[in-house]
Amino acid sequence: MNKVVLITGTSSGFGYFISLELASKGYQVVSTMRSLNNSQQLKEEANKVGCKNNMDVVKMDVTIESDIRDVVQYIKENYGKIDILINNAGYCLGGISEFITVKEWERQFATNLFGVISVTNAFLPIMRKQRSGKIINIGSISGRIGLPGLSPYASSKFALEGYSESLRLELLPFNISVSIIEAGSYNTKIWEKAMKNIDTKVTHHDYSKYLSTLYKNAETTSKKASNPIEVINIVQKICRSKRPRLRYIVGNGVRLTIFLKSILPWSWIEYMIGRKLKN
Ligand SMILES: NC(=O)c1ccc[n+]([C@@H]2O[C@H](COP(=O)([O-])OP(=O)(O)OC[C@H]3O[C@@H](n4cnc5c(N)ncnc54)[C@H](OP(=O)(O)O)[C@@H]3O)[C@@H](O)[C@H]2O)c1
Repeated sequence: MNKVVLITGTSSGFGYFISLELASKGYQVVSTMRSLNNSQQLKEEANKVGCKNNMDVVKMDVTIESDIRDVVQYIKENYGKIDILINNAGYCLGGISEFITVKEWERQFATNLFGVISVTNAFLPIMRKQRSGKIINIGSISGRIGLPGLSPYASSKFALEGYSESLRLELLPFNISVSIIEAGSYNTKIWEKAMKNIDTKVTHHDYSKYLSTLYKNAETTSKKASNPIEVINIVQKICRSKRPRLRYIVGNGVRLTIFLKSILPWSWIEYMIGRKLKN
């Protein structure tokens, strides 16, 4: 049987494109999304590009344990194995830390971190039994550097880095690899959703000028965001690789930013970010 790949969060963005690309390359793709009302477009596109027989669309909200259990059962009954798990579902909660409630923080972590952990834990027994598997977590440059206005998102992606490192070491003896893709800014719906959230917060306060600068910066970054194909190509590279690495860096300026942060004193980083915000 072809390699079986499960992807979370496939109603749009990376998950949507990864599903189509892998299915058309002959993988058996189980595309999961939290509402099947959003599945029509993916199914139609799969039909158009001739890969609909390689794609199964199934409901799964990564924050709902019973959804995850049902999908595990579905995979066992229909495929009997899972070769690759791609933890992609996520969203970006931005805004000024002081005004973001703990409930909102919890929701961010429930999806971006605990969702990844729940889904991974649910599928690991199958991979462990097989003594093979690949887990690909979609991380971010925000998991390597914390920028203003992004603290919940950055914290969740920093946590995903630590989780991925530890998990990789735990699973190496079972021939299961864990990789994390550290992506820069890509043109998906994540921006539009994040901006909506920032927009509704603090408008007349100490932070208001700062916030509007952050907002403008985010708008500029989103307009300059790259084509998601670069991330899709990295995913394919990992799927094909015999020995996937832990980290894959992709995106404009991402490698340089990570490198500079590793060698420069923090005070210089602060200065550079401050200047960028002023400009
Ligand atoms: N685009 C970038 O610049 C960028 C950069 C670095 C990392 N990333 C990461 O890439 C991943 C995909 O984001 P994207 O850019 O492709 O954005 P996107 O177009 O907004 O896609 C996010 C997907 O995650 C799904 N999702 C959110 N919460 C979920 C939940 N509780 N259960 C199941 N699915 C859920 C969304 O479903 P709904 O449609 O139902 O909301 C959507 O399908 C995220 O983890 C994000 O942090 C993105």
